[in-house]
Amino acid sequence: MSNTILVGAQWGDEGKGKIIDFLTERADLVVRSQGGNNAGHTVLVGGKKYVLHLIPSGILRAGKMCVIGNGVVIDPIAVAKEIDGLLAEKVKVSPKNLMISDCAHLVFPYHRAIDEQRELAKGKGKIGTTKRGIGPAYGDKAARVGVRIGDLIEPEVFAAKLKVRIKENNAVLKAFGAKPLNYAKVLAEYQAAARKLAPFVANTVVYLHEALKSGKKILFEGAQGTFLDIDHGTYPYVTSSNTTAGGACTGSGVPPHRMDSVLGVMKAYTTRVGEGPFPTENEQISDMLHGLGREFGATTGRARRCGWFDAVATRFAGMVNGIDEIAVTNLDGLDTLPKIKVCVAYKLGKKRLEVPPSDSALLAQCVPIYEDHDGWVTPTEKCKKWSDLPAKARAYLKRIAELSGGKLTIASVGPNRDQTILV
Ligand code: IMP
Repeated sequence: MSNTILVGAQWGDEGKGKIIDFLTERADLVVRSQGGNNAGHTVLVGGKKYVLHLIPSGILRAGKMCVIGNGVVIDPIAVAKEIDGLLAEKVKVSPKNLMISDCAHLVFPYHRAIDEQRELAKGKGKIGTTKRGIGPAYGDKAARVGVRIGDLIEPEVFAAKLKVRIKENNAVLKAFGAKPLNYAKVLAEYQAAARKLAPFVANTVVYLHEALKSGKKILFEGAQGTFLDIDHGTYPYVTSSNTTAGGACTGSGVPPHRMDSVLGVMKAYTTRVGEGPFPTENEQISDMLHGLGREFGATTGRARRCGWFDAVATRFAGMVNGIDEIAVTNLDGLDTLPKIKVCVAYKLGKKRLEVPPSDSALLAQCVPIYEDHDGWVTPTEKCKKWSDLPAKARAYLKRIAELSGGKLTIASVGPNRDQTILV
């Protein structure tokens, strides 16, 4: 494997965790470069389920170095808990296989409280955030008032910075009519987390460049998906980071010319959590998938909204990320359907659109133009290779990859490592 950026080509929850885990076998390092513990990557290893939020899924494979890059926002208490949880499951986590960038920004309880208050104030127009404080944390970073992990491990610097931030944010919380935070309590909790995390903190940019120099292969694991990107997604119904391929460069300090390929992960249908336009949303598919116990969020447990595969969306994802390879996941979710629809274009008024409009309000008015496919109506979960798949399933996969503009390289028919077909 060469240096690969893995991105979600839809609205997140594309099954990236499993594909990352699969590809990690061929990588030396796994790097997370954006987002925070709003993400939830589910990985099944030997029948055991792991849900990772901040720590790269590479941690589940021995001998792989995992890096949380500068572009990530970190709740230090959550990451310390995640480390403890993995240790309790006998997964090795030490500075030998996990490194955290000293430049990564911190998430504080006031970020979560403000996230919640803003959502409440928006009422029906809410974004449907994970309430992990992600937007306010990135807001502070952009406003140049954020506090970084490097500050956290300097006790005096941290205490002084936190004091100022709590004072300012308590005034904001007061304006919302919410409870203020106690400086001493937050300080004590963060100091305890700092003691745990300090050994993991490093200049990860320098480390990654040294790894590149010695020929190591890096997998950049994207969190969330293209349409949740702060610039290219369905704004304002997005997350607050660059979830698209460029985010892997800025969020890690590895330059674009060191990246060799971009793998877009997409489900064989479409899902979305939270509010915002979703042209191919379909109640019957949602009911069918939820009835199978599928499509409940790994972070919040919310039932995901579901719909037909939207090739207008994935075509745009192909452009903005430069996707050259495609992994299609959850093919088995469609196993029982006699007829399957694929959205090939949108109708907006009298116009036919091949890519989504930038304005979310216009996207909400788009009517999908579908092409019909015959379902394979055969279980695929036991298929191990391309030729095991029913002919109709192969035709469907080829068609959605063709419409999305990339080369189909992986098809996934279940959550386990061995339910992964190399095409
Ligand atoms: P936030 O990232 O918590 O601010 O949430 C903003 C939007 O992104 C909401 O619609 C969330 O549901 C969505 N979101 C954030 N993280 C994920 C994820 O990992 N998977 C799917 N949706 C996500």
